[in-house]
Amino acid sequence: MKDKTVLITGANDGIGRATAERLAGRGAHVVLACRDDAKAQHVAKAIMESTGNHNVDTLPIDLASMASIKAATEEFLAEHPKVDVLINNAGVYTDRLELSEDGYELQFAVNYLGHFLLTLNLLPAIQCCRHCTRVINVSSALHKKGVLDFTNLKGEKKSYNGSEAYAQSKLANVLFTMELDRRFGRDLTTNCLHPGVVGTRLANKKAGAFTSAVWSMYKPFAIKPEQGASTSVYLATSPEVKDVSGRYFDENQCLQKPSAIARNEQLARRLWEYSEAAVADFRI
Ligand SMILES: NC(=O)c1ccc[n+]([C@@H]2O[C@H](COP(=O)([O-])OP(=O)(O)OC[C@H]3O[C@@H](n4cnc5c(N)ncnc54)[C@H](OP(=O)(O)O)[C@@H]3O)[C@@H](O)[C@H]2O)c1
Repeated sequence: MKDKTVLITGANDGIGRATAERLAGRGAHVVLACRDDAKAQHVAKAIMESTGNHNVDTLPIDLASMASIKAATEEFLAEHPKVDVLINNAGVYTDRLELSEDGYELQFAVNYLGHFLLTLNLLPAIQCCRHCTRVINVSSALHKKGVLDFTNLKGEKKSYNGSEAYAQSKLANVLFTMELDRRFGRDLTTNCLHPGVVGTRLANKKAGAFTSAVWSMYKPFAIKPEQGASTSVYLATSPEVKDVSGRYFDENQCLQKPSAIARNEQLARRLWEYSEAAVADFRI
């Protein structure tokens, strides 16, 4: 991975941190795109010490704010003409309705829409040739429980189910991957994945006390973040997938069929058009 630039979101914790460390260990220039720059710098220092690779930078970005995403991409593009690997990894789980700065349901905003905007804004640096750039979207097997409700993406309905909203955001990750491949597959490869059930703090940060307690009890039986990073690292580095695009992989780096809804081309097109309109004011 020497001479390759990898931008990874949510790299200060969990699967993202483990992925960043492994890619830095292979010599990549790794950019940790995180909302808390102090945490990101602390992690960058730790990664430089553990890997001996000093080519680790941070980029402040809050995926719940389109203005922040625009500012981050402008800052990034001013210094970096190209991204070889973009890993859209950051994610949030909550079981209370919250809205992003731009008025979208928080899980939809952070897990999907923010990454949609980030990817589109980075296209000038990403688009090169199919063999040289990779966009990787961290989804989840829970996308299979997801449906897209276009009438509730801004939390319009009074009742809120956090796990349904999470599944919807992860379905959007798969639909985005498929549509990105259809639209830009000549210039890049893009794949999505389920990292496994990984013992991170995902459901301890914003989830309610009950969900957080259940997650904490379950965590010792889950795989470790280092193992959960394996499919992201595989998709970022392996020559086996240099021509593979528009696919969904599991935690064992095996190709899997995503849900029927996730394979619906009309729905993917509709989501893309909805998202393009939603982020229009923040494109660069
Ligand atoms: N853990 C699992 O079992 C599992 C299973 C399937 C899929 N996934 C997916 O794996 C990905 C990584 O999750 P994880 O389990 O590693 O959780 P994690 O340890 O909580 O990491 C999530 C990362 O996303 C960042 N993030 C959250 N909100 C953000 C925002 N508004 N702007 C920028 N960054 C933000 C977090 O930053 P802070 O530290 O500042 O909060 C953190 O760095 C997510 O997409 C998740 O949906 C996880």
